[in-house]
Amino acid sequence: MVSALPLTLAGATLRRRGKVLVGPVDLKLGERGVTVVIGPNGSGKTSLLRMMHGLQRVAAGSVTWSLPDTEARRRQAYVFQQPIALRRSVLANLVFPLRLHGMPRAQATAMARTAASRFDLTAKLEQSAPSLSGGEMQRLALARALIATPEILFADEPCAALDGSATRQIESHLVEAAASGTRLVMATHDMGQARRIADDVIFLLHGRIHETGPATAFFDGPDTAEARAFLRGDIVD
Ligand SMILES: Nc1ncnc2c1ncn2[C@@H]1O[C@H](COP(=O)(O)OP(=O)(O)O)[C@@H](O)[C@H]1O
Ligand SMILES: [Mg+2]
Repeated sequence: MVSALPLTLAGATLRRRGKVLVGPVDLKLGERGVTVVIGPNGSGKTSLLRMMHGLQRVAAGSVTWSLPDTEARRRQAYVFQQPIALRRSVLANLVFPLRLHGMPRAQATAMARTAASRFDLTAKLEQSAPSLSGGEMQRLALARALIATPEILFADEPCAALDGSATRQIESHLVEAAASGTRLVMATHDMGQARRIADDVIFLLHGRIHETGPATAFFDGPDTAEARAFLRGDIVD
């Protein structure tokens, strides 16, 4: 299958009411690996992911996939920090994206049940999604995002609202998805998590890429004083 990657950002800038939220960003996202986006609150992590996913149009510069935008869009999924679910059953939530892809109902239902089993949601299939716990809700969001096997998954601090055991579950699903070939781009404020799963790191500051590179080198010895301070847990602004 021809890849939608690399994704190329050239001078890509997102503005809201005249204010730059992120950019200009120059970045090439290759076909392999796990990219983790880190940086202080307000540094632009969410904005960068939204810009890459095309949720917001760039005010300047470009975001270019290696396939036409409509095809590239079909191959991406996005998981929000606050999981969102339809006010319907867990099963209906899982069936929905498959039906959007035009899959016949019987096949979509079978696939939804398989995904529910993989994400430990079988007992919850008939439950209304909004009544799930935070951890279950995020598992559902991730199951739904991964059900059609996206080529690229953007995840915005998917564990931010979760406790330790729910975080471990989500993290293992993310690692598994990445191992089976989904290109993962994830924002996190959890440096332990970043170290565990990142191949590459993007360190944002004030909406710009302040430092980027292979995770091992970055965590062992960042080049910039700001990244060193951030990793020490100092307040960086
Ligand atoms: N909807 C919005 N309207 C105006 N400013 C926003 C909006 N969303 C984010 N911002 C601003 O954009 C900057 C980057 O925010 P964000 O991308 O959410 O950072 P992060 O995810 O790293 O915390 C911040 O200064 C934030 O206040
Ligand atoms: Mg954010």
